[in-house]
Amino acid sequence: MSEPSPSSVPAHVAIIMDGNGRWAKQRGLPRLEGHRRGVEAVRTATYAARDLGVKMLTLYAFSVENWQRPPDEVGALMGLLELYLKRELATFVRDRVRLLTIGRTEDLPAGVQKHLRATIEETKQFTDYTLVLALNYGSRSEVVDAARAYAAAVAAGQEKLNDRSWATFNRYLSTATLPDPDLVIRTSGEKRVSNFLLLQAAYAEFVFTPVLWPDFTKADLAAALAEYAGRERRFGLTSEQLRPAPAAGIT
Ligand code: FPP
Repeated sequence: MSEPSPSSVPAHVAIIMDGNGRWAKQRGLPRLEGHRRGVEAVRTATYAARDLGVKMLTLYAFSVENWQRPPDEVGALMGLLELYLKRELATFVRDRVRLLTIGRTEDLPAGVQKHLRATIEETKQFTDYTLVLALNYGSRSEVVDAARAYAAAVAAGQEKLNDRSWATFNRYLSTATLPDPDLVIRTSGEKRVSNFLLLQAAYAEFVFTPVLWPDFTKADLAAALAEYAGRERRFGLTSEQLRPAPAAGIT
């Protein structure tokens, strides 16, 4: 198998990190231990993606639906998130990783919000590599928020009601400044999108791996990138349109 050429490396990879609970259960450990190991896998994936030539990595860290988990687990996840942010700030600055978020972060605990704000501010000048955490994120609530903001802009005369372009509406999504994901990976063998980047992934490639998130390594990411490199992305066109046959007589 040959190495993918630079152009076949996806610029933006998004991951649905799944399987922390099962990882823990298989070992007779509490679910929280699975989440702790999941944070280690976040660290691994952050640097693995960059080493493999990816420019942006979006991780689905907490969904709008995750609030419905037992309160102890929600509290533990928020605690882990806060600890992670505290610990990573210096590393992100040292390694020039820009942090961004998508989702309704205003509903996260104050401590988490404080660390998010600080990390985003301290890393905003870095342009080579970006880590995006999807926190309290869900595509449907994102669309509701965008539609409300769009309606308000129309009412204020800032947008035209008869503008039917996607580019205009896109500006109201929490991903407005981000490129669409080229590749979406889901771990743990489940084959669902779970309200994640539903509009942005309209033309993304999907790779599903049975690996549970805490076990996800650089080699697993490289395997997903290799699978991506073998795909033909057509964006609604035909293969022939994308790669026209050379005209006769021209060598
Ligand atoms: C799914 O495992 C994972 C999540 C609920 C979100 C991912 C959370 C982390 C990796 C830890 C915190 C993240 C950061 C960025 C600090 P699951 O519990 O649904 O697994 P299961 O389906 O096997 O029960």
